[in-house]
Amino acid sequence: MKALILVGGFGTRLRPLTLTLPKPLVEFGNRPMIVHQIEALAHAGVTDIVLAVNYRPEIMTKALEKYSAEYNVNITFSVETEPLGTAGPLKLAEKVLGKDDKPFFVLNSDVICDFPFNELAKFHESHGQEGTIVVTKVEEPSKYGVIVHKPDHPSRIDRFVEKPVEFVGNRINAGIYILNPSVLKRIELRPTSIEQETFPAIVKDGQLHSFDLEGFWMDVGQPKDFLSGTCLYLSSLTKQNSKLLSHPGQSTPYIHSGNVLIDPSAKIGKNCKIGPNVVIGPNVEIGDGVRLQRCVLLQGSKVKEHAWVKSTIVGWNSTIGRWARLENVSVLGDDVTIGDEIYCNGASVLPHKSIKANVDAPAIIM
Ligand code: GDD
Ligand code: MG
Repeated sequence: MKALILVGGFGTRLRPLTLTLPKPLVEFGNRPMIVHQIEALAHAGVTDIVLAVNYRPEIMTKALEKYSAEYNVNITFSVETEPLGTAGPLKLAEKVLGKDDKPFFVLNSDVICDFPFNELAKFHESHGQEGTIVVTKVEEPSKYGVIVHKPDHPSRIDRFVEKPVEFVGNRINAGIYILNPSVLKRIELRPTSIEQETFPAIVKDGQLHSFDLEGFWMDVGQPKDFLSGTCLYLSSLTKQNSKLLSHPGQSTPYIHSGNVLIDPSAKIGKNCKIGPNVVIGPNVEIGDGVRLQRCVLLQGSKVKEHAWVKSTIVGWNSTIGRWARLENVSVLGDDVTIGDEIYCNGASVLPHKSIKANVDAPAIIM
């Protein structure tokens, strides 16, 4: 089977992290976001994966080439010279996606869930029409593409409304599709949106169906959702009794309150309290008496003694000073320094900055 992952876009909503790395390479649960998708596709028997790239292709190629061997899949890079939106890249990759008459998967690169590729393929085959979209229910549908059904049919889609301004429903496009190669004929090679142009056209012909997702789902393309998605992902690992998680009761020098993922190379001081919902990346150093909850510490970051960190993403190689306190979706870019005893409330700090005064209210620090 074949798949295309949409890896373009500038990832502006995930700044300051995306000032350093393209969004699909930002580590989610200690692995580049997109590797979760590559792994799930490979496990479902996909053999050809096209990565549709337009932004910093050289970094992407370098970072992702190795996964081809690791997951035994053929990964190719389809590089756009101008951003082709969410449908144009499918046309650009027509040679691979249309090489046989079998359907192919399409994914947004920033969605995370227990990818149901096998069930999705079976369902798609059962209705025999052009496309199937995975849908999930959310509380705030206006940020997404909303799906409305035919009253007389459980899965046939009647309307697809991207980012609705008025409430039309709460079942949304989860950013995961399976499409027949015939869909490629509907797309022109130009910047074009699958949500605004292709889906409405398929809907008009009554050829688009929905598939309900079970379990968690999140678009992790913004800091607040990245943190919520991390909590959901860790809870899912806990439910599966995953070996990836560190378990309380192992000989840990700290108090551990569940849903904690720690890279084995991280160093943790004495008398810390960690969890719930914490991800600690490779080579992170944590001083004595640190309190961490609902946060992500990316590779090479340091948290000094007695700091208190909650609802925060700490960027690569950043340092948090002693007795500092960070909360309310603070995000530190690469190589940021937070001084001793500093308070950060929703601070979004650009790479290489040093913070020496409190940030009392949410602000971008440049
Ligand atoms: N190759 C390529 N070229 N990829 C692109 C381009 C482009 O020009 N523009 C965007 N992308 C990729 C992004 O990297 C992302 O993986 C995907 O297309 C969707 O773009 P987002 O910017 O993340 O869209 P969104 O989150 O606002 O909305 C989309 O996702 C929602 C689910 O999370 C839509 O598909 C909604 O309908 C959907 O509900
Ligand atoms: Mg998105």
